[in-house]
Amino acid sequence: MCGIVGYVGPRPAAELLVTGLRRLEYRGYDSAGIATLDGDRVLHRHRTVGEVDNLARKLAAERAPGTTGIAHTRWATHGAPTQRNAHPHFDASGTIAVVHNGIIENYRSIRAFLTEQGIEPASETDTEALAQLIGYLYHDGGNGESGNLLASVRRALHDVRGTFGLVVISRDHPDQLIAARRGSPVLVGVGDGEHVVASDGAAVIEHTRQVVYLDDNELALLTRDGLRASTIDDIPLSKSVSTLEVRLQEIELDGHRHHMSKEIHEQPAALRNTLRGRIDQNEGTVVLGGLADRERELARYQRVILTGCGTAWHAGLIGEYLFEELARVPAEVEYASELRYRNPVIQRNTLGIVLSQSGETADSVAALRELQLKGATTLGIVNVVGSSIARETDSGVYLHVGPEIGVASTKAFTGQVAVLALLAINMGRRRHLSPERTAGLLRQLDEIPAKIERILAMADAIRDLTERYVERENWLYLGRGVNYPVALEGALKLKEISYIHAEGLPAAEMKHGPIALIDRGMPVVVVAPRDHTYDKVVANIEEVKGRAGSIIAIATEGDRHLAELADAIIYVPKTHPLLSPLVTTIPLQLMAYYAALARGHNVDRPRNLAKSVTVE
Ligand code: F6R
Repeated sequence: MCGIVGYVGPRPAAELLVTGLRRLEYRGYDSAGIATLDGDRVLHRHRTVGEVDNLARKLAAERAPGTTGIAHTRWATHGAPTQRNAHPHFDASGTIAVVHNGIIENYRSIRAFLTEQGIEPASETDTEALAQLIGYLYHDGGNGESGNLLASVRRALHDVRGTFGLVVISRDHPDQLIAARRGSPVLVGVGDGEHVVASDGAAVIEHTRQVVYLDDNELALLTRDGLRASTIDDIPLSKSVSTLEVRLQEIELDGHRHHMSKEIHEQPAALRNTLRGRIDQNEGTVVLGGLADRERELARYQRVILTGCGTAWHAGLIGEYLFEELARVPAEVEYASELRYRNPVIQRNTLGIVLSQSGETADSVAALRELQLKGATTLGIVNVVGSSIARETDSGVYLHVGPEIGVASTKAFTGQVAVLALLAINMGRRRHLSPERTAGLLRQLDEIPAKIERILAMADAIRDLTERYVERENWLYLGRGVNYPVALEGALKLKEISYIHAEGLPAAEMKHGPIALIDRGMPVVVVAPRDHTYDKVVANIEEVKGRAGSIIAIATEGDRHLAELADAIIYVPKTHPLLSPLVTTIPLQLMAYYAALARGHNVDRPRNLAKSVTVE
């Protein structure tokens, strides 16, 4: 979702800001804008609808001088994606410019107050109300804020409800940026005589690796050489400097056509990273550094609640099977957006697991807080180091799959499932799993990356197969047991990037209504590896065939029977049934990718989607 970049230093700001915006394009946006400040204290603002390229073209023709500036990619929430709604927003006098991520919930009452003062809105956005409020306080505040930019920002942030990551500049203070955060990430890159502030490390990494993360309700006053951090209430803070671990190569295409394809193909290496150092084959144990002294507590939890959104929620569903089967502990999964408002009953000895690639999804952060409030011990399974969920959970396990830039989540999903398997095996071993069974499971987990390599080697065949069905507008995905969530994930991948309507179902549920949809040639993808549900799935396949649907089967290598029944078949290597989602998911990711390509869509920038949903 929206992206922020800000710069103060000796270099011309515009070019650097636009490059920063390009690094944030993957997050999803529909308009872009920039404001720079030059020596004669003029704010130069340029805004365009659509791609950052449009903004870059505009800047090539018009002036954006200055060595201080802010820039933004907007994903519309309040008001259509138009030029006048794009950020930066100014106050009425044109003195102050603001870029903002998040939502100002009480913008209507702020706007009403401002209208009473004779200040009319110039856009439909909530952000403009904040910019206008800061400007009003700066010029007319009367409570000590007048003429004091920092005090005006503090006071305005006090008065707003909602979430923000923001940066403010003023033509009266040409060498300053003010950055603040509540619920939407902001980090400050500390360079040599310069500061680069951004909502995501990707925009900072080529300038510096040294960063300071702002926490909620914190603010930083930045000049070329100075970083003064405080709470919004003006309590001085001393912030520590962290090092960004991400390498530039990891966020670039590196010869691939799309980030999604790069990330699908990275999965063997990514999962080796996830597992590295966490499996002790000699001892037959799991070592999870992020749990530290809490690891022994795994033996005493009486209930596990897993939560997340979208693909992360699908991983949670797989986790439910893993925890119940391997650790014999009751587990349940809930959408974070439901859990946060449902007043859930949390008993003592409950482990709340929050799954999130970004660690910033608004509903997942809120669900985490709800679990903590009700007394659960919380554990984050997160990819982005230093993200909100990573910092707020009681303990955590990082995915270590590297930055995921493609909007459709792929390697984070398999990383989440691998971490859940590690956790469930660890918990199981502390309860009833024998050393032999544990060692067997861990060996099979360790072999997964090589098995994924074998599936990826069939990518061309999977492309050809997909192209046979790509004209069809409705697909079904069926699976049972631990592969039912895989069916859901396959359907989600297809719809989000190819815009084909797809529905995932537990295979037996098909009979209770959806079977009415099946007509001649409708693609029905059935995830049917050899496990205890296999015969039942085969029966479901027969039912589809009876209605002339086309079966695309995901089957275990060597399954001749399914080859005869299915219209098309993709084989995956045999593994432990509970670990099978780690292999059965891969062909479904590839099918979605090739379907989107065949339909001519921008795979990395699907319409209406944002990489990280940081607003409700
Ligand atoms: C789908 C997808 C989304 C995310 C969801 C949660 O491909 O990417 O469904 O899984 O928005 O995001 P995170 O994992 O960042 O909390």
